[in-house]
Amino acid sequence: MEKIVIVRNLVKIYEGKVDTVALKGINLELDKGYVYAIYGQSGSGKTTLLNILGGLDKPTQGKIIVGNQDITHLDSKNLAIFRNTKVGFIFQFHYLISEFTIFENIIMPAAIRGGKYSYSQVKNRVVELAKILDIEEILGKYPDYVSGGQRQRAAICRALINEPDIVLADEPTGNLDSENTKIVVDLFFKINKVKGTTFVIVTHNENIANQCYQKIELRDGEIVKIVNNY
Ligand SMILES: Nc1ncnc2c1ncn2[C@@H]1O[C@H](COP(=O)(O)OP(=O)(O)OP(=O)(O)O)[C@@H](O)[C@H]1O
Ligand SMILES: [Mg+2]
Repeated sequence: MEKIVIVRNLVKIYEGKVDTVALKGINLELDKGYVYAIYGQSGSGKTTLLNILGGLDKPTQGKIIVGNQDITHLDSKNLAIFRNTKVGFIFQFHYLISEFTIFENIIMPAAIRGGKYSYSQVKNRVVELAKILDIEEILGKYPDYVSGGQRQRAAICRALINEPDIVLADEPTGNLDSENTKIVVDLFFKINKVKGTTFVIVTHNENIANQCYQKIELRDGEIVKIVNNY
């Protein structure tokens, strides 16, 4: 099976007055095309791991390969290209920009990327994704004037616009009620099925974690358990 993530001996130490060892030698391999959950208590290292996988942060030690690319030693310019072309990010708070419409927010990663797709291709992709995500009616609206669930679905659409190999989601439903949580999680699985996109979801929610292909449990910066759910 094709690996989309290979992590070897990953150590992350946040230096400060007191150093914090956030990750203590993580080894992990993820197969392409599945939905994974990273599960664990607050402070166990989930966000740290996700940020390093996405090239948002650098490890202190170890090796990270994502989608056949060794990102361990990429400089900041190449890391920015990696993030923009290979990874989709979804956070607990959507980080849509209030001054732009939902449509403009969604196409921003494609605009930053430039060149790869024509404007009409990008527009067609928004229409296709907006249909799946049920946000067609709000594309012309501004983020402050739509519901929380709609905003999060718009953020998912933005994460998918550049056709990433992998989507990294940090507590994507942490800010949603149970109804919208179900909608968002169902959409991850739908997109995974339709597009084959790999998802890594950081969550406290045991229900969500149990629905995933694997539940990877972190404690104090170490993987303590991996549960295969299929
Ligand atoms: N920028 C930082 N500087 C110093 N220490 C940090 C920093 N970010 C995280 N840490 C520490 O690293 C450890 C892991 O933090 P991390 O944010 O990865 O946990 P988490 O599992 O995502 O927690 P939560 O569920 O609360 O989001 C914690 O002890 C935290 O205090
Ligand atoms: Mg976190």
